[in-house]
Amino acid sequence: MRDETVMRRKILLTRRWPARVEARLAARYDVTLNTADLPMSPAEIRQALLDYDAVCPTVSDRLNASVFRADPRACILGNFGVGVNHIDLAAARTAGIVVTNTPGVLTDATADLTIGLMLMLTRRLSEGERELREGRWQGWRPTHMMGISLTGRTLGVLGMGRIGQAVARRAQAAFGMKIAYFNRRPLMAAELEGIVAQPCDSIETLIDACDILSLHCPGGGANRHLIDAARLHRMGPARYLINTARGDIIDEATLIEVLRQRRIGGVGLDVFEGEPEVPAALREMPNAVLLPHQGSATKETREAMGMMVADSLDAFFEGRPLVNRVA
Ligand code: DGY
Repeated sequence: MRDETVMRRKILLTRRWPARVEARLAARYDVTLNTADLPMSPAEIRQALLDYDAVCPTVSDRLNASVFRADPRACILGNFGVGVNHIDLAAARTAGIVVTNTPGVLTDATADLTIGLMLMLTRRLSEGERELREGRWQGWRPTHMMGISLTGRTLGVLGMGRIGQAVARRAQAAFGMKIAYFNRRPLMAAELEGIVAQPCDSIETLIDACDILSLHCPGGGANRHLIDAARLHRMGPARYLINTARGDIIDEATLIEVLRQRRIGGVGLDVFEGEPEVPAALREMPNAVLLPHQGSATKETREAMGMMVADSLDAFFEGRPLVNRVA
């Protein structure tokens, strides 16, 4: 059903979205695009909730309790992304605003990038490329740029949800890695759909069992600094840490210290505590591979994420049930 009421809905996209998705939304709604693609301030978002029927944020926006006021015009936040730790869901609920996200469509892209980070880190690919580009390469020699092999090693997956499982499946199939995992909710073997994996009863046991620990749990709340000083120290110089989930899961200040002291093998990060700020001390660490939150950054995936938001808005304004509602 398409009626004039739906046509006139005012929608705000807080960042540029893939062109095909912007065009789809513009064909149906009164859409405001952020053509400068600069992050919006909390005050601008607060105002937007009064001026628009739907606001569509991303992980680069901060929607804490202070942006929500009573009686907003906005009745839905269509988040472009699966993670919603940048939105105070309780405050949205209290303000009567529905929140949706985009699960599933970014699983493969994020899992692919996680494997890429693992290779970059363990095979020292960024280090090697920097050396070559800076004109420091002195030619092939038997001991040059030695990393470690993934084959036969154990990957520890913290958070065995969609993305954790997709990473485990790739690691097992491509590198013959053994898989250990910790998941808050115990999983039945059938839920792992063929992945051979050893469940661990604590994060400590998982750290002890693995060579590479990869984080795939949500950020925020109780997961803030889940990888704290004690767990970072427990890793030891032979283990590697990968984070493609959310920056605040790791205590970043302590991570910098353990990297500096070489008390961890190395770290591969796609996410940071204060994005887009990345501490200079971290940027200087040779044993850290750092990417600018690229996990879902393929054309196909970003379009699918945007189309999923558009589907949610259509369903919401037509009074149909919402598949991806999180609040
Ligand atoms: C997600 O979908 O949560 C990605 O991290 C981008 O926000």
